[in-house]
Amino acid sequence: MKSKNIWKNALKLIPGGNGLLSKRPLRFLPSGWPTYFKDAKGININSLDNKNYKDFSIMGIGTAILGYSNSYVDKKVKKAISKGINTTLNCYEEYLLAKELLKHDRFAQQVKFAKGGGEAMAMAIRIARSSTKKYKVVFSGYHGWHDWYISANLSNIKNLNNHLLKNLKPLGIPKSLKNSTIPVDFNNEKKLIQIFKKNKDAGILVVEGARNQYLSSNFVKTINQLKRKKKIIVIVDEITSGWRETLGGVYKKAGLLPDIVIYGKALGNGYPISAVIGKKKFMEKGNKTFISSTAWTERVGFVAALATIDFMKKNKVFINIKKKGKFILNSWISLAKKNNLEITTNNFYSMPSFYFNYKNIDNEVLHTMFTKLMLEEKYLATNYMFISFAHSDERINKYLKSCDKVFLKISKFLKKKILKNSKTKRRLTY
Ligand SMILES: Cc1ncc(COP(=O)(O)O)c(C=O)c1O
Repeated sequence: MKSKNIWKNALKLIPGGNGLLSKRPLRFLPSGWPTYFKDAKGININSLDNKNYKDFSIMGIGTAILGYSNSYVDKKVKKAISKGINTTLNCYEEYLLAKELLKHDRFAQQVKFAKGGGEAMAMAIRIARSSTKKYKVVFSGYHGWHDWYISANLSNIKNLNNHLLKNLKPLGIPKSLKNSTIPVDFNNEKKLIQIFKKNKDAGILVVEGARNQYLSSNFVKTINQLKRKKKIIVIVDEITSGWRETLGGVYKKAGLLPDIVIYGKALGNGYPISAVIGKKKFMEKGNKTFISSTAWTERVGFVAALATIDFMKKNKVFINIKKKGKFILNSWISLAKKNNLEITTNNFYSMPSFYFNYKNIDNEVLHTMFTKLMLEEKYLATNYMFISFAHSDERINKYLKSCDKVFLKISKFLKKKILKNSKTKRRLTY
């Protein structure tokens, strides 16, 4: 059966077709995206329809920081699997990973583990709310599917629109959670001050370590001041940004002073593992309120994370990735200029992105066109990407040659005003 038909049937069996919005073909190329993979190594993906692609897109939504099926990590995982992964007794690696992580987050003394990012965030919010009477959470960015976060849209359906995902309906979220969270735009320190002035019952702040941009120095300064003056608990979500530009969170480079930090995604190079790391006075509450789950003590995630960190340290992966990301971003800018295309870019270098920027054209048509034409060049590509250690300089140069070719084609389409695939454009909203 072809991928296209499998997806059609999957939509009947699985609501939405799969468990993760970001891997749905509608977000890339509604008809034509390969959708299913057979096997993957490095940046190579063989689709179920037996086509080979180089992945210059989301690399398993940022999990495969070392590349797919990294031999160093996989070897250690396989060895662990052969010795048993979930027994009556605990695995030693949970302790080892806690020790390792605390070396990188010097402000913290304790760690709790989970598997997914969203559940780790829910854990962090519970811990923070257990530690303060000021239960309202001020947040910036995306933090998962749990009630505490989606409840932001109870008071205004557009509250989350500037925080990655648009149109999230607060269906099934208890109305009693209305106004328990308050959104603030990333790097908007003036708004942040206003919110905490107005809401005396707001005692927790959640920000991402970086998304499209780095944390600005004024935003960081304001957060550190609020923390000192109002004793707010500062949680930094590094689920997506973490490990890409330093060992641990990018908050360190920005000078932000957190109370709790969350990692996920890249931490296990694709094996599920997430961590909530924080000050003892808050983390201890995690054992007073009830937080516990069977799958969290399974061994593979810990082993994978230890191996991934080891590999990252030995190979200075974060330096490598940032350098390559910067190069790709700058190359997009010069290639767009060369081909008379108008783009804007975001400069979190390890996750670079560009946006076509035309006033009278639906830019999503152009982004879809880019994906379609790059697919013909045998690349999985969209207008944003997660850089991995497995993207070699040689392959990056080949990819950029294809970008050049595709930008030229888009430029010609624009001149002739032929935007053929407007009916089948991608849809990023929920
Ligand atoms: C910053 C951030 N927080 C939380 C999450 C949720 O993590 P997960 O999808 O593993 O539940 C994500 C996922 O994209 C994220 O980017």
